[in-house]
Amino acid sequence: MLEIVLPTIWFIFPAYVANSVAVDVSGVPYLREWKTPVDLGRSWRGKRILGDGKTWRGLFCGTVAAVFAGYLQGLHHGWGQGVFGAGIVEMNVFTGFLLGFGALFGDISGSFLKRRAGFERGRVAPLLDQADFLIGAFLFASIAVRPGFEYFIVAILVTIPTHLFGNFVAWVLKLKKDPW
Ligand code: CTP
Ligand code: MG
Repeated sequence: MLEIVLPTIWFIFPAYVANSVAVDVSGVPYLREWKTPVDLGRSWRGKRILGDGKTWRGLFCGTVAAVFAGYLQGLHHGWGQGVFGAGIVEMNVFTGFLLGFGALFGDISGSFLKRRAGFERGRVAPLLDQADFLIGAFLFASIAVRPGFEYFIVAILVTIPTHLFGNFVAWVLKLKKDPW
């Protein structure tokens, strides 16, 4: 089990970084005011194209953080082989960029679909909310590397419990209203 889970975590790491940083920087005092939405506030057929939850700040900061993650992973490939497995994918700034930008592109596409389906910004869309960024990350990354379809399946399977656990911890810490 771990022989496939660990290399998947190593590979998908920049996508996780991009996704988390895009959300986390919304709380940084200096960056809080930079909230221009990616859709520039525009609507299509009476509904917002994407909504106020997708900002250029998130897209930019998340992508930069993912590039940095890929850079660090490239620097510490030998260490990664020891911890995550000898066969791990070689990471660099380009794979970091593809996974990070791809993840945020997937997340934005997910919001596009949610708005078309009439979901208000912030409303939970189970599965779509967790899978959209992974689909985007794997699609973009496949330009440079194709680690195999099993990586995608494992990434989805690892992400769902991680997400639920993260939400539960946030609820215990009173950062979130509901435990899911
Ligand atoms: N965020 C951002 N820019 C992004 C992605 C996320 O600024 N590209 C920030 C926003 O403050 C957003 C929060 O992270 O509200 C949570 O992200 P997410 O759950 O993806 O957005 P939602 O607000 O739930 O919007 P949606 O319904 O469109 O998914
Ligand atoms: Mg949300």
